[in-house]
Amino acid sequence: MKILICYFSGTGNTKKIVNEYKKQFESKGAEVQVYNIESGEPLEQNNFDLLGIAYPIHAFNAPSIVVNFVKKLEKQPENKHLFIIKTSGEPLALNNISSTKIKKMLRHRNFTLTNEYHYVMPYNIIFRHSDNMAYKMWDVAQRLVPAHCDEILENQKSKLGYVFMGSFLAWVFRIEYWGGRYNGKKYTVSDECIKCQKCVRCCPTHNITIKDGQFEFGDNCIMCMRCSFFCPTNAIKIGLFNNWKVNGEYNFNNYNENEEQTHKKFCKKSYQKYFEKSEEKIKKYEEKTQKINENNA
Ligand SMILES: Cc1cc2nc3c(=O)[nH]c(=O)nc-3n(C[C@H](O)[C@H](O)[C@H](O)COP(=O)(O)O)c2cc1C
Repeated sequence: MKILICYFSGTGNTKKIVNEYKKQFESKGAEVQVYNIESGEPLEQNNFDLLGIAYPIHAFNAPSIVVNFVKKLEKQPENKHLFIIKTSGEPLALNNISSTKIKKMLRHRNFTLTNEYHYVMPYNIIFRHSDNMAYKMWDVAQRLVPAHCDEILENQKSKLGYVFMGSFLAWVFRIEYWGGRYNGKKYTVSDECIKCQKCVRCCPTHNITIKDGQFEFGDNCIMCMRCSFFCPTNAIKIGLFNNWKVNGEYNFNNYNENEEQTHKKFCKKSYQKYFEKSEEKIKKYEEKTQKINENNA
């Protein structure tokens, strides 16, 4: 089976998950092509059996770069199955609405959605999760992916819950529409800047330029946060959202028992529910694989 996974990732969370999918599918004998949407490279659009689309949720929506990519996808001559992978900072059910628009567009292009999965990963805006929380999220995601890949390969459908008036709510929250256009131009660079130009090089829409030694932010910002997140001196101010800025990579591998949990109360119950449900699923999957291994022994 040939699987094509097309993804966008602003600050690396979604990319981490996609790489796990690739590893897992390949271990099951599938051929996997991973396509980075921002590369804009030509894509062979009929040379796959199964399509995956992966993205980070941006204010209950898919990022515009993903929507625009889907718009350009060709209609398939035959119906093909589709799975969607999304990552976000909290597990609220409202996040389910983010795929409403692309699902409709993909249906018109002859794709049938069979599986949709949501992974909670650390926030790259709003507030910084503790490294412990990042560790826990990543640990759970890595153990969930094999179970989800099995479901996909075994044609076991798995979809996320319906949200009443989802399309309308997604339209209301479409932050990139105005945030990117208007707030993106309000970005500034402070004196801490060391002119490494990492931001210029990494911006997925080439929206940051330097003219006469001054940084200029154009109107193509897609609010992915990559520039400010990876800035080595935390020198980029992100306009109206500056109080929500998160700077610096998470350490996903270093569990520190003594680290204080930040934002303990924020969505406490939904995080708890997410972890509990994930562990249940992982347990079922592990029991199933154990039985198969025993039968094969
Ligand atoms: C502009 C913007 C809006 C976001 N909106 C949401 C949201 O509505 N719900 C949520 O849970 N996380 C939200 N997030 C957090 C990201 O979805 C989350 O951190 C994601 O894992 C980042 O993935 P990436 O590293 O692949 O870009 C938002 C992030 C950005 C930058």
